[in-house]
Amino acid sequence: MRHYRRLRAALARKLTANALIHLEGGKPLPRNSDVDYVFRQNSDFLYLTGIEEPGCHLVLDPRTGKEILFVPRIDSHHRVWQGHVPGPAEARRSFGVGKVMYADELQKVVGRRKLVAKAKLRDALDDLRACKTRPELDLMRQANRISGAAHRAVMAATRAGMKEYQVQAVFEAACLNAGLKHLAYPTIVAAGANGAVLHYHRNDAALRSGDLLLIDAGAEYRGYAADITRTFPVNGRFTRRQKDIYSIVLETQKSCIERARRGVVSADLHVHSMRVIAEGLKSLGLLRGEIDGLVESGAVRLFYPHGLTHMLGLDVHDTAGGKRRKMKNPTKVPVRFVARLEPGFVITMEPGIYFIEALLKDPQLRRRHKSSVDFSKAEAFLDFGGVRIEDDVVIAADGPPLNLTDVPKEIADVEAACARC
Ligand code: GLY
Ligand code: MN
Ligand code: MN
Repeated sequence: MRHYRRLRAALARKLTANALIHLEGGKPLPRNSDVDYVFRQNSDFLYLTGIEEPGCHLVLDPRTGKEILFVPRIDSHHRVWQGHVPGPAEARRSFGVGKVMYADELQKVVGRRKLVAKAKLRDALDDLRACKTRPELDLMRQANRISGAAHRAVMAATRAGMKEYQVQAVFEAACLNAGLKHLAYPTIVAAGANGAVLHYHRNDAALRSGDLLLIDAGAEYRGYAADITRTFPVNGRFTRRQKDIYSIVLETQKSCIERARRGVVSADLHVHSMRVIAEGLKSLGLLRGEIDGLVESGAVRLFYPHGLTHMLGLDVHDTAGGKRRKMKNPTKVPVRFVARLEPGFVITMEPGIYFIEALLKDPQLRRRHKSSVDFSKAEAFLDFGGVRIEDDVVIAADGPPLNLTDVPKEIADVEAACARC
């Protein structure tokens, strides 16, 4: 509770104007007649309170330091269907906010007062949320610990003949069994060629011996996300060809993690990852030419068409900070996430190589890159799918980052984790 109180005080310090901060929590979202979607609290509200109940509001007065939590007034009909919901007295004890009132009394408090403008509040929250505090990092470590154990359970349980959704069930059961109610994003389980679909969600194909399986999955711990990808052989043993591609991705990821340090610009790291992947694909004869040219012309993007990294926190693609931190992309390649890394940033490191029919068979791209891509060699990989390896790391004050993810990724360790008894 102290941790949330400190974050509220930090927000109030940033917004010292003579205006109230008003933040509305999430509301239940109807799915159809009497059924709501599963409720997940608004991330800003969770950040400042840790409260997972719907229908609340928070009001802070930066001038006086006063805090008021507003909770819904629950009638007996609601209690019959939804059970117990804390009232003001209980909420004050459980959530540690100085004063608690009913949500229908909100107007009485804020009605005639000036409120901090939404854009200003957004900016301040983004700035605060970008750098994780020590207690937040503890929550993120927990999310990774449980999601990591679920990934290891998946490696041990996967067999040829299973369906992708059965692998998903192994992952999600492990998270649920550990008490984690929410996934951080929809689980991707992609066997064989499906691994080349970046946001694959069908999860209904059969797993074949000899194919790779890509699983991108993470759960939330008290709102904080893990985002982990592993790619491993369905039958537990990498083929030569799979090892070749996997080793390039692994080398790229390790090299980027080593370089993910305070002051480095994320876009420069992305360009570095493109260079290492271009070198690797060149050594396999899939690309040819100078590395700079392969990166700048976009040839390497035919095999690696997504970003290396994004912020992680209460949202899986978390805020990188408010206006103060906005910066121009200093590189020649288009990159979505551009930020100078700061201690306390939690970011993913997720390079990948894919063989995507929509790109490799595109006539325009083939014309543009005909001198730098061996398309006939690449087409021989169209049944391959893709490899992505994704860990979550904390930028340190000094030196390399702290890796929160503990799931095998070295070839020998992956094979051992998949070993059949
Ligand atoms: N799982 C979503 C992502 O990796 O960005
Ligand atoms: Mn990610
Ligand atoms: Mn992911």
